[in-house]
Amino acid sequence: MEVGFLGLGIMGKAMSLNLLRHGFKVTVWNRTLSKCDELLEHGASVGSTPAEVVKKCKYTIGMLSDPSAALAVVFDKDGVLEQIGEGKCYIDMSTVDADTSSKISEEITKKGGYFLEAPVSGSKKPAEDGQLVILAAGEKTLYDEIIPAFDVMGKKSFFLGEIGNGAKMKLVVNMIMGSMLNAFSEGLVLADKSGLSQQTLLDVLDLGAMANPMFKMKGPTMLMSSYPPAFPLKHQQKDMRLALALGDENAVSMPVAAAANEAFKKARSLGLGDNDFSAVYEAIKVPEPSP
Ligand SMILES: NC(=O)c1ccc[n+]([C@@H]2O[C@H](COP(=O)([O-])OP(=O)(O)OC[C@H]3O[C@@H](n4cnc5c(N)ncnc54)[C@H](OP(=O)(O)O)[C@@H]3O)[C@@H](O)[C@H]2O)c1
Repeated sequence: MEVGFLGLGIMGKAMSLNLLRHGFKVTVWNRTLSKCDELLEHGASVGSTPAEVVKKCKYTIGMLSDPSAALAVVFDKDGVLEQIGEGKCYIDMSTVDADTSSKISEEITKKGGYFLEAPVSGSKKPAEDGQLVILAAGEKTLYDEIIPAFDVMGKKSFFLGEIGNGAKMKLVVNMIMGSMLNAFSEGLVLADKSGLSQQTLLDVLDLGAMANPMFKMKGPTMLMSSYPPAFPLKHQQKDMRLALALGDENAVSMPVAAAANEAFKKARSLGLGDNDFSAVYEAIKVPEPSP
């Protein structure tokens, strides 16, 4: 199967490498073209624009930072739309809101192409290990055709029905994750300020019903103030923002998520946006200015 891949950030690079490793022919494109070099070394071809990739490949996957990037790659000059048409398929795996996904879907469908949204749950390591959870929605025939690629990139795929459902599921999941990480960070600060050992708190949590891979993985590095980005904080804040907008649309009160979003915004204002999202702990550690 020949697959195009647009967007070689933390996730896109790992996912496209996995496809290559499993024998897929892959043509990549990235806005910063130099990021294609490593993929080239691993046997990928390089397209000079998204349109060129779509022209070459029946299936093209996008893995882009946010709604504006996802839209730009499709709608801008030399974008996906210029070459999409009968028999061509686009699969957007970026985390975006349902409206963005619908806009892309409508235009691609108008031109006779097929579209699937397929955001993923799981971070850098699961992407490297082919252990993502794929939350797909849209064209079911395309979902069935692209399953061999999903099986390489992920450990489980869900087909969630109409366009928007994959995006919404992903936002709900990340809203929970962002809120959990804030509660965890506050707990670490509270333990410290109360004279308790933070390491003992990690040990206690890990032995009980709240044990989870995220606390286990992030806890020790947070205690070392080490935040190499697996999931950039700026993207987690984008997901909180989009999840809160989904809450607005559905009149769902989400005070916990709203407070968590404030902490992520504060972390961004402290210049931590490109760090791992666990760096929100640094923002929670900073005392509020006195009035
Ligand atoms: N990292 C994770 O743990 C994780 C997990 C699940 C889902 N996600 C989601 O997956 C997506 C990608 O995440 P990531 O961690 O791989 O992000 P990343 O490392 O920041 O990569 C973002 C990618 O988007 C491209 N991009 C940004 N703006 C663009 C524009 N205007 N036009 C064209 N390309 C543009 C970047 O190109 P340049 O290289 O030129 O900047 C890069 O290829 C995001 O939606 C994120 O929320 C991430």
